[in-house]
Amino acid sequence: MTRSDPRAPISRVVVLVPTYNERDSLPRLLEQLRAEVPFVDVLVIDDNSPDGTGEVADAFAGTDPQIRVLHRAGKEGLGRAYLHGFRWALEQGYDALVEMDADGSHQPKHLHAILAALDDADLVIGSRWVRGGAVQNWPLSRKALSVGGNLYTRMLLGMPVNDATAGYRAYRATTLETIGLDQVASQGYCFQVDLTVRTVRAGLTVKEVPITFVERDLGASKMSKDIARESLKRITEWGLAHRTGQARDLLVGREHWHRL
Ligand code: GDD
Ligand code: MN
Repeated sequence: MTRSDPRAPISRVVVLVPTYNERDSLPRLLEQLRAEVPFVDVLVIDDNSPDGTGEVADAFAGTDPQIRVLHRAGKEGLGRAYLHGFRWALEQGYDALVEMDADGSHQPKHLHAILAALDDADLVIGSRWVRGGAVQNWPLSRKALSVGGNLYTRMLLGMPVNDATAGYRAYRATTLETIGLDQVASQGYCFQVDLTVRTVRAGLTVKEVPITFVERDLGASKMSKDIARESLKRITEWGLAHRTGQARDLLVGREHWHRL
């Protein structure tokens, strides 16, 4: 999974911040982010939040040319919001696209290590479930969902990634261009697993950097039964297709272990 040719240097970086009802959280995140990594631009992707998050973001954009806002018509899920933001950022010619939650769970101070790792990777995941990674203030039930989800994903998909559901990550633009975004159907949080699988299967390099994920103290999580259900359904489908393919290859004597 490694490439020998050196990767192009990264100069233009944008952090994509999807928001739905994050009026109370967003200002702190934007202030911390701009102070910590002043050279990166920011795109807030708001799904017409009823609490006025879009206007809060506009106020920041009005005084800071490095902050932009993408206003979407309504709530369509995290995956759709990111796809929209990715298309915008690729058109703008950014070299690296970072995903970051608005609620403070993804600390801007980790971005230095994440971007440094991207020098020789195609995707860098800010990982909770590697040595040095951690989660603060999650109830046991949510921890179990994340650990269980990652275990299930690894078992079914055989992926060498410890935190495939993580939402703090950096993609090279070339990675997204290589995997292609047109076929991505995931609406909710399984979008993260979906793109991880596509990146690994394209033979690209994924690195994990330990982060401490801090559960939000303001606002509410948008994680729902529907989102968990979509993840379970899609990961099971991908896993079955993958394992059936492996079995078929085994039967006809193909080198099945090269398929991930
Ligand atoms: N635009 C938009 N549209 N933003 C959304 C939507 C949506 O439909 N749903 C959620 N968001 C935004 C939230 O406003 C927040 O900034 C971010 O996406 C993450 O949402 P949370 O609801 O805070 O997620 P979480 O803390 O439960 O889940 C985190 O962990 C998951 C798994 O570990 C996130 O990092 C997920 O990406 C990750 O998969
Ligand atoms: Mn959160």
